[in-house]
Amino acid sequence: MNTKRALMASTLWLLLCATAVEGKSNVKKELFGELPDGTPIDIYTLSDGPVEAQVTNYGGYLVSLKVPDRNGKSEDVVLGFDNLDGYVNNNTHKGTAYLGPIVGRYANRIANGTFELDGKKYSLAINNGPNALHGGLHGFHIVVWKGQVIPDGVELTYLSKDGEEGYPGNLSVVVRYTLNKGALKIDYSATTDKDTILNLTNHSYFNLKGAGKGDILNHNLRLHASQFTWADSTLVPTGELKSVEGTPLDFRKSTRIGERIDSDYEQLRVAGGYDQNWVLDSGGRKLADAAEVYEPTSGRVMRVLTDQPGVQFYSGNFFDGTIKGKGGIAYQRRDGLCLETQHFPDSPHHPNFPSTELKPGQRFHRVTVFRFSTR
Ligand code: GLA
Repeated sequence: MNTKRALMASTLWLLLCATAVEGKSNVKKELFGELPDGTPIDIYTLSDGPVEAQVTNYGGYLVSLKVPDRNGKSEDVVLGFDNLDGYVNNNTHKGTAYLGPIVGRYANRIANGTFELDGKKYSLAINNGPNALHGGLHGFHIVVWKGQVIPDGVELTYLSKDGEEGYPGNLSVVVRYTLNKGALKIDYSATTDKDTILNLTNHSYFNLKGAGKGDILNHNLRLHASQFTWADSTLVPTGELKSVEGTPLDFRKSTRIGERIDSDYEQLRVAGGYDQNWVLDSGGRKLADAAEVYEPTSGRVMRVLTDQPGVQFYSGNFFDGTIKGKGGIAYQRRDGLCLETQHFPDSPHHPNFPSTELKPGQRFHRVTVFRFSTR
């Protein structure tokens, strides 16, 4: 009897503790839906005053991000879907657009889907022209992460087994989304038991007017980058670092995105707009400003800080109206912009790029912050 009572008391205590943690951090966990195989998937709502973020443990998607405009009116500024089925269906159809997930093991492209490490050749799925893109067919954007409420946010963990999608090593990954004082922070860490390569990012499409409210051409962008990685016709870097000076890729001063997007410049022509990797002036050594986006009608400003060495500014050139997102609205060309903080694409083939190798005993750790304000 006594043991039973003690057990009940300790269970009650544990429950109280769990509620206290959730209460302090303003994080709510709810059922988002079920995968076709019946796996239940959760959605975590992080609220901090007028700013609210939702994250799911399916693919680690940032499902929504509500941010006030200069009159205090909150609007969802990330593209996505109304329910879990929307995300699942987009991933099963061939042209997945990565509407907000964690991307890994290797964000962006690896030429010909092969790389060498310690004298051994590894082959990856070819899923983008002749190249491997965004972690393969069953990358981190599709897997079910283990979610847990933490102060101010949610922690997602995933064990990617040795050989998964062709990558070596059992890789243990932890991604923490936290919301604090108008800033959404994404903290990535990972360890491995074998030499491997790694490049993690989040692939959210922002529209600071509001998701589904037209294109992003009138947004103003500033990038803290004096160079970019020159790419070939399949969008893979050649290895050359090129100055932005005198090119339409110069965003060192805040510039309207639409101003030069269709200029006759080879890098823009091959990509159909902006889809290049900028080399951040900070060198990726400490958390520093990478980008700033300003949308004049709403007054919303998004400042992006990171300790990653690069950022892929992608202007949503591939949307063609076939994806129906939140509220059934079809996403058209350039309806959203991505600022994917990252290591440079195809780094394993370029010894002059910052290394993406991770060895046993080392801990990968990178942070990106999206900070919101109005002007
Ligand atoms: C990245 C790539 C683009 C495209 C998108 C996803 O931004 O660089 O070329 O593949 O992801 O649609």
